[in-house]
Amino acid sequence: MKILFLDQSGKIGGAELSLLDVARPYRDHCLVCLFAEGPFHTLLEQAQIPTCVLATPIAVQKDSSVVKGLSSIRQLMPLIIKVAQLSREFDLIYANTPKALVVGAIASALSQRPLVYHLHDIVSQEHFSAINQRLIVSLANTFAVAVIANSQATKAAFQQAGGRSPTEVVYNGFDIAAFQQIQHDRSTLRQQLGLESRFIVGHFSRLSPWKGQHILIEALKHCSENVTALLVGDALFGEQKYVEQLHQQIEQEGLQHRVRFLGFRSDIPQLMAACDVVAHTSTAPEPFGRVIVETMLGGIPVIAAAAGGAIELVESGKTGWLTPPGDPVKLATCINHCQKHPHHSQEIACNAQAEAVKRFDLAATNEQIAQCLQQVSQTSRVTFSNVLGWFPACW
Ligand code: UDP
Ligand code: GLC
Repeated sequence: MKILFLDQSGKIGGAELSLLDVARPYRDHCLVCLFAEGPFHTLLEQAQIPTCVLATPIAVQKDSSVVKGLSSIRQLMPLIIKVAQLSREFDLIYANTPKALVVGAIASALSQRPLVYHLHDIVSQEHFSAINQRLIVSLANTFAVAVIANSQATKAAFQQAGGRSPTEVVYNGFDIAAFQQIQHDRSTLRQQLGLESRFIVGHFSRLSPWKGQHILIEALKHCSENVTALLVGDALFGEQKYVEQLHQQIEQEGLQHRVRFLGFRSDIPQLMAACDVVAHTSTAPEPFGRVIVETMLGGIPVIAAAAGGAIELVESGKTGWLTPPGDPVKLATCINHCQKHPHHSQEIACNAQAEAVKRFDLAATNEQIAQCLQQVSQTSRVTFSNVLGWFPACW
């Protein structure tokens, strides 16, 4: 099957890392079309996945507006027409992000190619404005022959928002061997970081208010002096104000010697192995949470915020811990438990590793996606009249 993948971002976020894994088996007969230049393009090229960049005048911001009304769709028309032309060479269009859905939906009607939408987001007011929720849902309902949701929570939110397209849950898959074959030199890395004698709580996420790095910093006040927070990740989508707030918070609380920012890194498994525990602190429901599974695969204890997909990944007290989102005191209690009971937390981490190996194998999740695509490639296509009918229905 020849697939045209669409993604709005040139940055390396979770949805893009997922796409890298999904597209790889199709690399001899696919094209990944990005709407912005960036390091994700390089990553795709390194994986020898054919890629093109069609830059769009609409600013590509992950957490903000999908499009600001019909005028934005008009501005997107040149891109839509280009994608429609490209897609005639392919059997199927696979939209991986909300703006890719906007473009892919109309292009699919123009080119008469079926559209599949991989939904990586929780369509709710915590993540999208009312108008963008409506836009995503109505485009998916009208144009997508299938939706692939990255968790049950994502599927439920989509349906609650009015989503009616056939929706299948496929969790992110991971290259388990790559995780396990890594020669972790825990002590060397800790030494390089100058943290060999510290109890390290890792946090692996882009810097963004809803990812909740401020909750971990607040929790440090309730942990013992030798606990250090290692913040790995960058502000990918212009969240500079939040970064400044984090630095102010650290200064005000006198925590400069207990928080380290490492920026964006590509050696995640090694860094995770240098940690004593990893905290996930999203204050809004996490759609899936790749970092949670990566921590489990690495055999490191994980504490996750109990909302969205995270609840499906971790069984609290068995394969990690779940704490209420936005609650630094409960988070600190868990960190303190891990510090006081290293054997117990290692036991939990071992359970988690075994569970993650069973549930999140890339070969299995890619097979689920392949079957879904096989089914829908036969499905009837939308026609241009759907586009015309969609405008009044949506607005
Ligand atoms: N990540 C990375 N380098 C960093 C921070 C994060 O490669 O410095 C990766 C991380 O390992 C994970 C992904 O980025 O695979 C983030 O995905 P997740 O689903 O956790 O969150 P998202 O940012 O997509 O909402
Ligand atoms: C999105 C979500 C994240 C998920 C990732 C991969 O970026 O925010 O929770 O893990 O997609 O599906």
